Amino acid sequence: MYSKIVGTGSYLPEKIVTNQDLEKMMDTTDEWITTRTGIKRRHVASETDTTANLATRAARRAMEAGNVQPEQIDMVIVATATSDDAFPSTASRVQHQLGLRHVVAFDVSAACAGFNHGLSIADQYIKTGFAKMILVIGCEMLTRAVDWTDRSTCVLFGDGAGAVLLGASETPGLLSTHLHCDGSQHHILYAPNTVVQKNADSPFVKMEGKEVFRHAVTRLGELVDETLSANNLTQTDIDWLIPHQANIRIIQAMAKKLNMSMEKVIVTLDDQGNTSAASIPLALDIAVRDGRVKRGDLVLLESFGGGLVWGSALIRY
Ligand code: COA
Repeated sequence: MYSKIVGTGSYLPEKIVTNQDLEKMMDTTDEWITTRTGIKRRHVASETDTTANLATRAARRAMEAGNVQPEQIDMVIVATATSDDAFPSTASRVQHQLGLRHVVAFDVSAACAGFNHGLSIADQYIKTGFAKMILVIGCEMLTRAVDWTDRSTCVLFGDGAGAVLLGASETPGLLSTHLHCDGSQHHILYAPNTVVQKNADSPFVKMEGKEVFRHAVTRLGELVDETLSANNLTQTDIDWLIPHQANIRIIQAMAKKLNMSMEKVIVTLDDQGNTSAASIPLALDIAVRDGRVKRGDLVLLESFGGGLVWGSALIRY
């Protein structure tokens, strides 16, 4: 048995904060943000939004797209670094909001690479026959987790959610997943849980940007090689690259590595900023709905985040 994506959905909050808006709030410029990152604007959740609500909206759209009924879903996996509660999981809220049966529901903590981790876990459950239909969601409210007086981090992030339904299939859809972690680099990108870590000065995202950038380009380059080689493929076989949307220069480096024109890379960064675990399912859903990614296309998803963690998934969509 194999797993295959049967439906995708996404949700972005209505409120948009542009680089020009940020110029009025802090010592920054549109020019600095655009040239260093590729970001032009980001969506920001309202006061009343919760991470679970964003996730549920994206999930409903994926269910509509795949024509999947609540009773068909056997498991909910939510990838998020910004869960509404320390416990229980965001997945348990989503399970209830969607009116699902009492099926397994849990969160995955793998920062910006969380969605690929969720896909990989879901794939194992489907291959073993434990589940036939799994909802995998990436959702974040990173704008609540950044210090809005720290211009080096707050300009980078946005809010949103993306969801896929992964179903059992006779033919291969998810071809392989590859996940890695280097815990020795924990300190270059993290957000302390100040309830538990009493000595931490703030709960906000802390990042050594240049170091993160350097590791991302190296590790993602290795990951692309690993994924192609595991599937006996070459760069030209890939139809679409859907990278985690953190920085346009990292994305361009991966396109170059794959010898791929930027037209074959799905980029949402300019409109959304870095939405962490949500960025890949958001980009996938947008590209499916606008007709770029079609059934049968070979799609490479790759992501990188705090941990450090990095992961890929190769999909015959
Ligand atoms: N506006 C204007 N200036 C800013 C700024 C902002 N928003 N943020 C930082 N600066 C300033 C710095 O204070 C520094 O000034 P100085 O030279 O006077 O000290 C200068 O810009 C350069 O800062 P630096 O951090 O060296 O910039 P950089 O070229 O490394 O770019 C990032 C910063 C964050 C854009 C870049 O390192 C990056 O994208 N890294 C990867 C981050 C990432 O992808 N994280 C998520 C992974 S999931």
